[in-house]
Amino acid sequence: MYPEMTPADLSTLDRSSPVRAAIAARRSTKRFSEQPPSRAQIEALLQAAVCAPDHGQLAPWRFAVLQGDARGLFADALADALRSRMPEVADDAVAREREKAFRSPVLVVVSAHAEPHPKVPVVEQWVAVGAAIQNLWLAAVEMGLGVAWKTGNAAYDGRVKRALGIPEEDAVIGFLHLGVPLASAPPRAPEAASRTRWL
Ligand SMILES: Cc1cc2nc3c(=O)[nH]c(=O)nc-3n(C[C@H](O)[C@H](O)[C@H](O)COP(=O)(O)O)c2cc1C
Repeated sequence: MYPEMTPADLSTLDRSSPVRAAIAARRSTKRFSEQPPSRAQIEALLQAAVCAPDHGQLAPWRFAVLQGDARGLFADALADALRSRMPEVADDAVAREREKAFRSPVLVVVSAHAEPHPKVPVVEQWVAVGAAIQNLWLAAVEMGLGVAWKTGNAAYDGRVKRALGIPEEDAVIGFLHLGVPLASAPPRAPEAASRTRWL
């Protein structure tokens, strides 16, 4: 029924398709330029995000965009949260934690506001937010921008959520660093075959 594909075929996406070219090119950005993306670009990315599949059209995604000095809010929250979790933590570790907020000119904090629903389990609402992040990321690649998706302890820390105005009951799905990429993660060749059964 399906043409047989070799492992090489499976790890190679047809780059003449713009969507698959963006999928193939997507890598985590390791270093960002200080040049911030424009407001119009950020809005276009958020618009791409909210086109994600969304069971029940509940729009469970929430976005907080931090740029410029507003990133200090996040830096302070990261530092406070780390000190609360580890009261003996060294000052240089706190300084490194603060620096995370300034890795990129823009941060998009993506959270999920999931509510009990008769037909849409909470996990499906979270997954929709993950799909929104992927839409945003691929659109960013297509625009020449880069993303790094981070979570870590801070994502699950109520102090960080409070500082960012995220309700306690909402889930942080990702801290997205966004900007013009200067360095990206090395290429890799993921393959689907070993994780696929054809029935
Ligand atoms: C929900 C989620 C949370 C993640 N959190 C982190 C993180 O805290 N730190 C990190 O280095 N990578 C994190 N990653 C993984 C990276 O974003 C990245 O996708 C992965 O390292 C593979 O590299 P690539 O994006 O270049 O393919 C996370 C990915 C997902 C899906």
